[in-house]
Amino acid sequence: MRKFIGIGVVALSLAFAGSAMASNGAGLFKSKCLACHGPDGKGTAMAPAFQGNAWIKDSSAADIATVIKKGRNGSAKMYKNFALGMPPQSLSDGDINALVDYLKTLSH
Ligand code: HEC
Repeated sequence: MRKFIGIGVVALSLAFAGSAMASNGAGLFKSKCLACHGPDGKGTAMAPAFQGNAWIKDSSAADIATVIKKGRNGSAKMYKNFALGMPPQSLSDGDINALVDYLKTLSH
């Protein structure tokens, strides 16, 4: 009987870990984007801020996802004040969606 309770607890905590990872935009941001876009998306000399960013606020989730996937380099660049462009990111669609949601919350 005790053994069964133990297994149940492990299964439950795994389920929680899984759902937290699937939607952890803030965690993904810290590991993949913070170096250029700054803590809490405040921006740096390398890349624009997401806080109060009108483009993020007004664009569709699909358009934002495309920029994250394909990057923005060369003639596609929108900003002149950053030396480098936005590098394309190879992430799962679930991770990209979680990042888009997180950027949307920062932009408001
Ligand atoms: C090497 C630095 C760098 C990294 C790392 C980086 N970016 Fe960027 N990002 C940029 C730069 C530079 C731009 C501006 C490109 C331009 O001029 O249009 C940009 C632009 C963007 C834009 C468009 C913003 C706007 O105002 O038009 C989005 C969305 C974006 N990045 C998301 C991300 C996400 C999400 C990550 C992490 C997965 C990330 N970036 C990682 C440098 C970076």
